[in-house]
Amino acid sequence: MKVTIVGAGAVGASCAEYIAIKNFAEEVVIVDIKEGFAEGKAMDLMQTSSLNGFDTTIVGSTNDYTVTAGSDVAVITSGIPRKPGMTREELIGINAGIVKEVSTNIVKHSPNVVLIVVSNPMDTMTYLASKSTGLPKNRVIGMGGALDSARFKYRLAEAMGCPSSEVSGMVIGGHSDKGMVPLIEKAARNSVSVSEFLSSEKQQEVVEATKVGGATLTKLLGTSAWYAPGAAVSEMVKAIALDSKKMFPCSCLLDGEYGLKDICIGVPAVIGRNGIEQILEVELSEAEKLKMVQSAEGVKATNMLLDAQLV
Ligand code: 2OP
Repeated sequence: MKVTIVGAGAVGASCAEYIAIKNFAEEVVIVDIKEGFAEGKAMDLMQTSSLNGFDTTIVGSTNDYTVTAGSDVAVITSGIPRKPGMTREELIGINAGIVKEVSTNIVKHSPNVVLIVVSNPMDTMTYLASKSTGLPKNRVIGMGGALDSARFKYRLAEAMGCPSSEVSGMVIGGHSDKGMVPLIEKAARNSVSVSEFLSSEKQQEVVEATKVGGATLTKLLGTSAWYAPGAAVSEMVKAIALDSKKMFPCSCLLDGEYGLKDICIGVPAVIGRNGIEQILEVELSEAEKLKMVQSAEGVKATNMLLDAQLV
């Protein structure tokens, strides 16, 4: 398994580190445009191999995509992160052109690749990568829901005073501060509905804290988070590498599922060696359906901001 990660910033480097430590990939290539940056990150990570006990080879490349040739999976983290007070959508002007160029470069050298898009605004960047590369829709996946669900479980565990390993919870919809849909009605602690542990008010607090989970960290850190995003991507890459058929909420190009067409948005999907093996249409309550429709309206509005020449 060869994995390319474009963007040697905090998210990309964290993803590379987690992939190495999980030791399921033979090779990881990190690409960045900043001279020597990817090479430095790769060397620093490789110097942990005897300490962290992994066999993965990590190499860096300054914008030379020939080094990425034959990648099975490629993760796109390149572009600028948001600053405190910014929305993810405000990054579109700069990040759209970068994601289009990067996607094209990746596919040129790895035509059979599965793309995982992280760059924000993620659902729109996933749509752009899908349209500009023309890859089959099962091989273009956006990572947002896996991260948002981890934050949802963190908030639920915090509220219930229990280990997060006891909690199941999923976030679908757009990866945006207003558009996320934490499925609180379906969340559980060891199969027991969270409504048996949390009041309606507390459940709503958890939902709202989840939706702004990224913004909360950006305010504390002065930039976007990187540990949980990197870890979330590494789990998706692992599911592809091991053909796990594991369910993740992730941004998929829809063609009628959930009543939506020609949009990339977070839905439950089975992830395996072919990327999106199956999109799961789970039963939603009327309230959840309405939130999903509203979320899709927000993603479509952001998609409209894409310059016509890009898609
Ligand atoms: C986040 O929510 C970077 O969008 C990512 O942290």
